[in-house]
Parts: sequence; C-alpha cells; structure tokens
Amino acid sequence: MHCDTVWTGARLLTMTGEDVGLVEDGIVAATDGRITHVGPRTEAPAIHARETVACDGRWITPGLIDCHTHLVHGGDRAHEFELRLRGASYEDIARAGGGILSTVKATRQATEAELVASALPRLEALMAEGVTTLEIKSGYGLTVEDEGRMLRAARQLGERRPVRVCTTLLGAHATAPEYAGDADGYIALVADRMIPDLAREGWVDAVDAFCEGIGFSPEQVRRVFEAATAAGLPVKLHAEQLSNLHGAELAAGFKALSADHLEYLDDAGIAAMARAGTVATLLPGAYYFVRETQLPPVEALRAAGVPMAIATDCNPGTSPLTSILLTMNMAATLFRLTVSECLLGVTRHAARALGLAHETGTLEIGKSCDLAIWDVERPAELVYRMGFNPLHTRVWRGK
Ligand code: NIG
Ligand code: FE
Repeated sequence: MHCDTVWTGARLLTMTGEDVGLVEDGIVAATDGRITHVGPRTEAPAIHARETVACDGRWITPGLIDCHTHLVHGGDRAHEFELRLRGASYEDIARAGGGILSTVKATRQATEAELVASALPRLEALMAEGVTTLEIKSGYGLTVEDEGRMLRAARQLGERRPVRVCTTLLGAHATAPEYAGDADGYIALVADRMIPDLAREGWVDAVDAFCEGIGFSPEQVRRVFEAATAAGLPVKLHAEQLSNLHGAELAAGFKALSADHLEYLDDAGIAAMARAGTVATLLPGAYYFVRETQLPPVEALRAAGVPMAIATDCNPGTSPLTSILLTMNMAATLFRLTVSECLLGVTRHAARALGLAHETGTLEIGKSCDLAIWDVERPAELVYRMGFNPLHTRVWRGK
C-alpha cells in the first residue's frame, strides 16, 4: 500500500473500543490528510510511504480537542479576581453589573482584528499541548453585529493557524444592556434575528445558552433552542452550573450535543442525557477558579453510561485556563476521573460533543490524521504532571 506518511515504532492510544485502545508497536499511515492504516506493526500490510517518521517508542494519541471555550473576548477580569479574593462572589459581581457584562463592554470596543490578535496567544498555548480541534463560543457581543464579529474572529483563528475551529453562537449568554429588565425582549432578538441571520451567513456550527438564575430561564432557553432547530443547527447548554433549573433535561429533549458544567445535575437529568446520547462536558477549571464545592455527579454519570468530555472553558471570568493538560489533571484530582476517562474526555467524547465523531477524536481509518506524539513513558503522565508539557509533535490533517 502507498501513502504520504507513515509513523512507525509508536505506542498508540487509538481511543477505540471499550477503553483507550492501546497498541504496542503500532503504525499510523496517512494520505491526503486522512488515516489510511492504523494498528500493530505485525498486522500491517507492506507500506510504501513518501515519508517515514520513526517514533522511537513514543506514544501517539489522537490530536486533543478542547470542546468548550470562550477563547475570543476583549479585555480580562483580573480586577474581579482580586475582588473575589477579598470575599465577593461571582454572582455578587454579576448582579452588580460586572461579570459577563464587563467583558461585553471590552469586546464591543474591540475590532475583529483586535479580537483575533488577543486570542492568538491563547490559541497557541492550547496548540502547544497537542490541541488540533477546539470550539470557540461567541456570547460577549449580545447584538447581531457584535456576535457576528466574534464568530468571524473565531473562524479567522482557524484560517490563521493549522487547527480546526468549531463556532458556537452563545447569544443567550446574558441579557444585553440595551434590554436591561427585559430578558424576554432580548431572547426574542436572539431567536428571531440573531440565530437565523448569523446561521444564514454560515458562521455558526452550533447554538448554546446559559440556563441559570443569573442567565436565562428554561422557558427562554426553549425559545432559543426552537430557533436553532428551525435554522438546522444542533444545540448545547451551560446547565446546572450554580443551581439546578433542570436545563440538562431540557437540552436532552432537543437531542443536544452536550450539556456543560453540571455540578447541580440530578438523577432525572442524567437519565434524560443517557437516553438522548447527550455528552456531559465537565469543566474543572471553572469549578476550581470560582471555588465551587458542589461536585458534578461523576459516579452517577459513569453508572448511566453518559460519555464525559472535559474542556478548559477558557474564559476571562470563571476559567482563565489555557492548558488542556492541566484540565485533565484537575478532572482527575478534583472530580476523580480515571486516567482513561480523562484521555477519552479530550479525544473521542470531546469530538462527539462537537458533532465531529465522524471526523476526529480517534485513530481510525478514514478520519482526519490529527495526532499528538508524546515524550512519555506511560499515558498516565499526561494526566499526572502539572505545568509540564511533554508534547513532541503535533500533526493536523497529516501535517
Ligand atoms: O462557562 N457560565 C457562563 N459562562 C461562562 C462564564 C463567562 C464569564 O464569566 O465571562 C462559563 O463559566
Ligand atoms: Fe462556558
């Protein structure tokens, strides 16, 4: 068999099958950016490659996937961090007009080029740890025009760097200041104009909302989801982060790709997610940074067979985190995920949370050849270390 590139002498985690699909002495072959062969050397056909990369026993995983980020935003919230250190809570700050709305102000003042420029170092930090796919949400513009600019900036990041960017419209993140006291009026704008207009432009891959006391009610989220469905877009939801409004159940009713955060998720929500095949995206960076004490119901999710993804939630307010490796460590240490669960959470299950299970997230014939090659002795090291990056090579679409 002929191919462009073959990686030989590697230990593989294919992320297929029951667990992580471990292969000792494996090879991966790719042509035109797609995997054409993967498996143990002893079972491989004769391969004639234009380029052979000897991996010297290094480990290869699928390229990592950060399936929940707010990477594009103006400014930062270091000042609010200092206020919280002196005792203010995240909700206090939000109710006093800070929080998300202070980032909205800074984001509205930024040009598209400025949004791209400020996000690039954050993107590069993720890529340096083997990330080949990430999701980027809007949600700090809150007008049709400003949300559109955020989505275009996100798309531009994917053109400026060799990485796959999925865009999520999070118009229902907070009530725009122009609609203060009229959340229903703002939701009408999101449902009737923002979603259809921006979807028509082709800038949106999925629609998200913030279902919370300081966000939107389940009835308001339902209007948003109906508009997304009408526009042919899949949905996901920030649900059960600070309280239980049964958002995950609502999301599952719309066959959501994922419900995210989930610290306050209950058994009914878990059962609904299991039935719908909705991924539980856990965000330990936000749990850590707001010093939450309510743990997400990991054991019950596991028992119900709900796939768990983990992501940075990189955002200026609750999770200024740009390390997918540290996120895995936090998921293990804080949430008690196993090493296998952490690895699946940033590969196979994260791909599914983005509707990309057919394209990336596992090492399988036909999928995009997205690889992370690691200088480690055993996979647990990827989860165990804090602040150390053992990435040897990142490969996206075979390059
Ligand atoms: O995922 N929960 C709402 N959205 C973000 C926080 C956004 C912000 O504070 O700027 C989150 O935690
Ligand atoms: Fe978020």
